[in-house]
Amino acid sequence: MLTVTFIEHDGTTHRVPAPTERTLMQIAVDNAVPGILGDCGGSCSCATCHGYVHPQWADRLPPVSETEAFMLEGVPEPRGNSRLCCQIKMRPELDGVVVQLPQEQV
Ligand code: FES
Repeated sequence: MLTVTFIEHDGTTHRVPAPTERTLMQIAVDNAVPGILGDCGGSCSCATCHGYVHPQWADRLPPVSETEAFMLEGVPEPRGNSRLCCQIKMRPELDGVVVQLPQEQV
């Protein structure tokens, strides 16, 4: 089984199973990971699934769409590796991906 590791802002780590074709947001919600809310259900319209994807996986991620980029402009602490977790589907090449979670979504 593929896995994703979510790291809360306080350092609490959650290594959870990650079925292919589920988004990182769905995987976090499925496993009750605090810090990912997913209020819009994955339609890229709330930004409550904001996370910082470890740079090691940057070249394996899907490109940022115009809509995602627009939504990321509104998050409180954007970084170069900010992504919306609902826009990233799990695939084998993302096995072990690490996503740090921002403080504002607690
Ligand atoms: Fe709303 Fe990702 S769940 S933008």
